[in-house]
Amino acid sequence: METVVSGIRPTGNLHLGNYFGAMRNFVKMQETNHCYFFIADYHSLTTHPTPHDLHGNVKQVLVEYLACGLDPEKATLYLQSDIPETAELYLILNMNAYKGELERCTSFKDKARTQPDNVNAGLLTYPTLMAADIIIHKAHKVPVGKDQEQHLEMTRTFANRFNRMYNVEFFPEPVAYNFGESLVKIPGLDGSTKMGKSEGEGNAIFLFDSPEVIRKKVMRAVTDSGPTKPHQKKPQAIENLFNLMKALSAPETVQFFDEAYNNCSIRYGDLKKQLAEDVVKFTTPLRERILELLQDDAYIHKVVNMGKEKAHASASKTVREVREIIGFKEF
Ligand code: TRP
Repeated sequence: METVVSGIRPTGNLHLGNYFGAMRNFVKMQETNHCYFFIADYHSLTTHPTPHDLHGNVKQVLVEYLACGLDPEKATLYLQSDIPETAELYLILNMNAYKGELERCTSFKDKARTQPDNVNAGLLTYPTLMAADIIIHKAHKVPVGKDQEQHLEMTRTFANRFNRMYNVEFFPEPVAYNFGESLVKIPGLDGSTKMGKSEGEGNAIFLFDSPEVIRKKVMRAVTDSGPTKPHQKKPQAIENLFNLMKALSAPETVQFFDEAYNNCSIRYGDLKKQLAEDVVKFTTPLRERILELLQDDAYIHKVVNMGKEKAHASASKTVREVREIIGFKEF
């Protein structure tokens, strides 16, 4: 069985894009791999959240992942800050992480540009912390998107550097877990090809959105003035609505509106009404489960402690061995 590690940023709620993307694959992966999924709460300190926001966001993300089917009995689901060994490994890796390579990291350069008044050391060393997260469990695979490829490349660099420096074959080289064809891409409601929380108000539908909010968002989705010729190619915004429908609605529904589009009788208002109801039908059980879990402090406590125990067993073993390799030996 291969070891898989992935971190989840505790920012905001899951949207349909997350659900059909990473989420569904996490749920599949936990069946056949040794999975560690953690909430990256140390990482989130780079933006200085208040204690109240931090705690609330961590709880919300945890509950949403559970509601979507992450199983704490199958995967190890834990909070990053519950494993201080990660911080120790991060400190050790930082001794061989160079300012130049960290400054060249694209995500750092972006952040330095967009938030020039908060370019802190945590931001600069974000890739070292991420490397520590991954190699602390000696992971083989990391299910991340394109935006994290460079961080993963740096993880390999740090792992190899450690191995070479101490002439050991201790850390495996983790590679990206590629979902390939199985990844369903969910478009945004604003005509853009990707649903994302940073794309602006109204682009994303969150699992936690109420039916009223969902209806409003779908009804406001970008369309055009309609087809004028039979079998016209759909413009991006219209294609998006159809793609969303394909992911959520019955095949007959998609076929019905497709025919209406092709013979120019389509009314976008009808399509949106149907789509909104299908989205509501799809998300309602998830939202209800989220609400239920938010009330269940005893269960959350149990899940978090179970994860902590399992993650600690793996992390403390690695760090004990690392200390030994480095020369921190007992007298
Ligand atoms: N950087 C990742 C993101 O922004 C989150 C993350 C932190 C992560 N540590 C990780 C992902 C370790 C995979 C493995 O989404």
